[in-house]
Amino acid sequence: MKQEKSMQDTTIPHLRKQGNALQLIVDGEPFLILGGELHNSSASSMAYMAPIWERMLALNINTVLAPVSWELLEPEEGTFDFTLVDALIQDARTHNLRLILLWFGSWKNGTSSYVPGWVKQDYHRFPRIPIRDGRSAEVLSTLAEANWQADATAFAALMQHIRTVDSTHHTVIMIQVENEVGIQSDSRDRTPAANAAFAGQVPQELMEQLKEHQNELAPEVLQSWMAHGLKASGTWEEIFGSGPDTDEFFMAWNYARYIDAITVAGKNQYALPMFVNTWLRHPTNKMGDWLHGSSLPYVFDIWLAGAPHIDFLTPDIYVPNFSEWCERYTRRGNPLFIPEMFPDVSGARNIFYAIGQHNAIGTSPFAVDGIEQPETAPLSQTYASLKQLTPLILEHQGRNVTIGVLLDKNHSGFTWRTEQFELNITLDSMWRAAAENGYGLIIALSPDTFIGVGSGFGISFKPITPGPALVGLRSVDEGTYDDGKWIPGRRLNGDETDQGHKWRFSPSGISIQRCTVYRYE
Ligand code: DGJ
Repeated sequence: MKQEKSMQDTTIPHLRKQGNALQLIVDGEPFLILGGELHNSSASSMAYMAPIWERMLALNINTVLAPVSWELLEPEEGTFDFTLVDALIQDARTHNLRLILLWFGSWKNGTSSYVPGWVKQDYHRFPRIPIRDGRSAEVLSTLAEANWQADATAFAALMQHIRTVDSTHHTVIMIQVENEVGIQSDSRDRTPAANAAFAGQVPQELMEQLKEHQNELAPEVLQSWMAHGLKASGTWEEIFGSGPDTDEFFMAWNYARYIDAITVAGKNQYALPMFVNTWLRHPTNKMGDWLHGSSLPYVFDIWLAGAPHIDFLTPDIYVPNFSEWCERYTRRGNPLFIPEMFPDVSGARNIFYAIGQHNAIGTSPFAVDGIEQPETAPLSQTYASLKQLTPLILEHQGRNVTIGVLLDKNHSGFTWRTEQFELNITLDSMWRAAAENGYGLIIALSPDTFIGVGSGFGISFKPITPGPALVGLRSVDEGTYDDGKWIPGRRLNGDETDQGHKWRFSPSGISIQRCTVYRYE
């Protein structure tokens, strides 16, 4: 992924490479986001928020994702009100929590419902898009300079303010620019400006980027381009053919350019890491159901070309095939961060996989303020265990020594090769019940010592280097980490390790275990 290093100030939260991972650095140290996103309207009232902070702590969340809306920040043009932002930062600090602010500016879930009233009402100055049936949608056009200028002015004011109140505290660690952009109900913007741009040449910056990354492009863009002769220049339809796919490529480019302009305005004031989030296209969606132009995997390369100041693209994963989406959002050096996912037990399981398998910067289930009984919720248990393991996870990220586990009946096992062993990881099936779900993560601390966390899976070992042919469990301990120090609990043997044949994570709860193996003959 293209990194714009020029704007990176390493004294504030920033991104840094470790091996093949990109880590978020906060106060000079790698930081793992155990996050949670609030319901959309919660942070618009600090009184409403008052009881929520303790619930975040009960969930073992360390970072709250909270919207800041353009309409409340700039109720009158040029008049900014930072009261809510200041209170949010103050309350987060009091509870020792970090914040990721979500800029609900021009678009939220594709519509422009969070723009100030003075923007909404002045639709001549701030054009919306007419869609195919001639109706006007409450969606600001990306092709109107007045739109992005006004948004960029407000966003820059926000970032300048955050710099003033937070550049020495670092309570705010990242920013999401807009929220799930794209056009629904039509494949592209049909304003006169958009029609003219669509009839014009594909910008050379995009063509150059496609050429440079031709070997790694998403197949959809590459195939359309190839099918029309791999031309170096031409109109959108000359390069990619005519049809809804080309419309979508066009929209992706225009959303990316618009958001990049806003991002630059914000980063010029205070250059925190900034990302965009994506409403994923469900497999059953028909044309017009999803947000056309959103940063979906098949237009990923267009987004990377169009928004070089955005640090990474992220998926909001509410659709099936969690692992596949993680895979698709880790192309071209894009680090995985999941700003939205289910807050229930499925989300709590998937988090381990994202972090263990893909070196995720972090995860953030949505609507966490609505979770009933936070103290005992699955998310609280997941984050409690990951909190203990955070120093180890961060130390080993990007070094190819960690794996995520996500098993069910349709995908009941896989193998993982480490330096000296092949681990066969399967759904746990000991004694009275076969597990229906297996989830967790494993770190190879050294060639023969492993730390694992999770539930419902078992591991057997096979050697893959010369030497004695058999592998035994030398010891398996369950335990906890207290401030980075291992405190062993039960020594696991007998049924708990299938009489020494398997390193097991019982389905009855989440455990943290340390296992050492040896070879014999
Ligand atoms: C995705 C959006 O990004 C959120 O703000 C929220 O609207 C959820 N969908 C609701 O499911």
